Amino acid sequence: MYYLIGIDVGTSATKTVLFDEKGTIMASASASYPLYQPQNGWAEQNPEDWRDAVLRTLKQVTVQAGIPAADIQGIGISGQMHGLVMLDENGEVIRPSIIWCDQRTGAEVEDMLMLMPRYKWIEITANPPLTGWTAAKILWVRKNEPENYARCRHILLPKDYIRYVLTGEFATEVSDASGTQLFDVAERCWSDEVLEKMEIPREWLGKMYESCEVTGTLLPDIARETGLTAAVKVAGGAGDNAAAAVGTGVVRDGTAFTTIGSSGVVFAHSSQVTIDPKGRVHTCCSAVPGAWHVMGVTQGAGLSLKWFKDNFCQDYIAAADEMRVDVYELIDHDIRSVPAGSDRLIYLPYLMGERTPHLDPDCRGVFFGLSAIHTKTHLLRAVMEGVSYSLADCKDILREMGVDVDEMIVCGGGGKSAAWRQMLADVYDCPVKTVQQAEGPSLGAAILAGVGCGIYDSVESACDRLVLADRQSSPDEDTAAVYSEYHKLYKKLYVNLKNSYKELAAL
Ligand code: XUL
Repeated sequence: MYYLIGIDVGTSATKTVLFDEKGTIMASASASYPLYQPQNGWAEQNPEDWRDAVLRTLKQVTVQAGIPAADIQGIGISGQMHGLVMLDENGEVIRPSIIWCDQRTGAEVEDMLMLMPRYKWIEITANPPLTGWTAAKILWVRKNEPENYARCRHILLPKDYIRYVLTGEFATEVSDASGTQLFDVAERCWSDEVLEKMEIPREWLGKMYESCEVTGTLLPDIARETGLTAAVKVAGGAGDNAAAAVGTGVVRDGTAFTTIGSSGVVFAHSSQVTIDPKGRVHTCCSAVPGAWHVMGVTQGAGLSLKWFKDNFCQDYIAAADEMRVDVYELIDHDIRSVPAGSDRLIYLPYLMGERTPHLDPDCRGVFFGLSAIHTKTHLLRAVMEGVSYSLADCKDILREMGVDVDEMIVCGGGGKSAAWRQMLADVYDCPVKTVQQAEGPSLGAAILAGVGCGIYDSVESACDRLVLADRQSSPDEDTAAVYSEYHKLYKKLYVNLKNSYKELAAL
């Protein structure tokens, strides 16, 4: 029996899972780290925290599993997309990573539009310049921290920094590189034209691979420290959403998933490059060689619920500690006592601005319709409903583009909530399913490593073998009708507030 490891460098934690070649979990460990918000709309993390979490959890899973190290063949890495990691000539981190949900780069997006018209950006990178993507962040550092920029010799994405730590290689792969805005998405290579316009040296960027190709082997010191052998192959892996697609079997046309992690994503596989001319959803390379995907992104999905829980639910946290249960299980239970629509309360989940469908770094969260009858439980339900309306916005745009799906897989932390799954089924008005393997990105990354190591013939055949359907939530007609009215009003609220958001940002 061979074994594979999938690492997912998330926003709230890194999760490392050791699987056997049939996809059975042999051991799993996670380690969390802080998110820093030095200013309203900014978001940073320390790459060294990701590194420590990865090394610690790797060691934990090899000890827990207790299998011969020589049988562990490969590692796949998945991670939060778009984050900027800058290294100096000695491979040392220059500054904290500016991560995916950071919204400081409004001015730099304007600068990018001066360098090349919007249509040209879309033609090459398949997306318009976006505040959260890597290219605008590089310009921000160049403009605002020239001393840091002068020291820069390598630019890496979060999971590719981990690859560098594990293997010493500067490399990346097509799915994550698609989210840098320096990448030719149709041709699956760095874009010389964009790099020239942006004056970013080509040699700062890693070598490009397909997601299931082997990019290196473990450094001997790392192998010793983590209980692995230096023969372990590290595959390209994928951005967290492309990896979750593999981990949920979304690898063929007509299949789609929704993930509720810190961000929320509605993701559909596509064998063609399909672009939204308005740029409201992203088109990226898939982890399946020769394929692409489209995805809409809610910036503050699980992040909204976590924010509310951390700031206003100390009672829930204490009760969960005492009962030794997950705090989200208690929330999941309680919100069922509030009717759909939260008694006329609507939450806009724009804590970190919004991408789909607004592409607006300045919008912010709102509770609309607060009344003296509302309790904390109403607010909790409204948060989950608001995130669901935003995800439905993503799904609607995919449908507009001709990418329609008649059922949706759901995964991520939020996908564990039966109440949230039912809510999605009702708001989407389509069946929502889970797969038996809840590990999403970690399993996807491990499968990619398995293809790289020759254990599986292809990504698709491995998914057919390993990823099995589980539970289904079907939409309830009456509730779907209620949500449809609330969703209409939810959509109007942004339009009504759009100018006020700009005023607020200017205060
Ligand atoms: C996708 C995106 C997020 C991050 C964090 O474009 O920004 O999903 O990958 O999970």
